[in-house]
Amino acid sequence: MTKFRVGDQVTGSAGPTFGAHAEYVTVPENGIIALKPAGLVPTDAVAVLDGALTALPFLRDAASLKSGQSILINGASGAVGTAAVQLAKHFGAVVTGVCSTANLDLVKSLGADTVIDYTAQDFTELGQVYDVVFDAVGKSSYIRSRKLLKPGGIYLTTVPSLPILMWMLVTRIFGKTRAKIAFTGLRRAKAMALDVKFISHLAASGHYVPVIDRTYNLKEAASAHARVQSGRKKGSVVLTLHDPGE
Ligand SMILES: NC(=O)c1ccc[n+]([C@@H]2O[C@H](COP(=O)([O-])OP(=O)(O)OC[C@H]3O[C@@H](n4cnc5c(N)ncnc54)[C@H](OP(=O)(O)O)[C@@H]3O)[C@@H](O)[C@H]2O)c1
Repeated sequence: MTKFRVGDQVTGSAGPTFGAHAEYVTVPENGIIALKPAGLVPTDAVAVLDGALTALPFLRDAASLKSGQSILINGASGAVGTAAVQLAKHFGAVVTGVCSTANLDLVKSLGADTVIDYTAQDFTELGQVYDVVFDAVGKSSYIRSRKLLKPGGIYLTTVPSLPILMWMLVTRIFGKTRAKIAFTGLRRAKAMALDVKFISHLAASGHYVPVIDRTYNLKEAASAHARVQSGRKKGSVVLTLHDPGE
């Protein structure tokens, strides 16, 4: 073993095998782990990774988001959305977040330049155009969203469907705009471990904040899953081996 010493605190992801609802988990040294920065408490260390390990490859790799570009993020209050807002601002983009009334202040506080309440306005009918539209919750299809794209603009969605796979192929060959989906959990462990390190250090330096909907004890895992499945959480749900607050 070369990368870690006994007693090191690490943070990371169990990857597509899941299986992290346990007191002990084995991961290979070259797995999706990195040293946890001392300035991050464990709950924050996992919360910052949850959405960001998805949002980062979407924005950086699939969209090649650049400073000065404009991006609309639909579902800006979820785990992926809150991460996308913060990372897009980190990359220097001009960010519009779409969320419900209850989450407007949260999304604004994360750095969004503009927030749109989807319960009050249809964001596809406001006449604005963007370099990138990121549907973090898969609620607005490419067909519905494409009028929001500048020529050469990119639509991204996290949620797989037959239409998005078809549009991805069609727009790659013929499109003035592009439609894309990515499967971020299937990336190589080495690339994901580098992202774990990047995100953790961004958070430890105060440039990325964890958004935690609620922390549950491991005994409450079923309730935690029910909250996740509600589709209404703000940011991430965290499971801890201790009673929250201990
Ligand atoms: N492709 C990939 O590699 C990949 C990786 C990870 C996750 N995913 C997928 O990404 C999706 C998002 O994950 P997540 O964890 O970020 O979801 P999440 O946290 O459960 O999203 C919940 C948030 O979405 C908002 N929301 C619900 N309906 C909405 C609507 N119609 N318009 C705008 N916002 C709405 C909710 O706020 P309100 O209820 O207040 O609106 C809530 O804050 C999931 O479907 C997940 O399976 C894909």
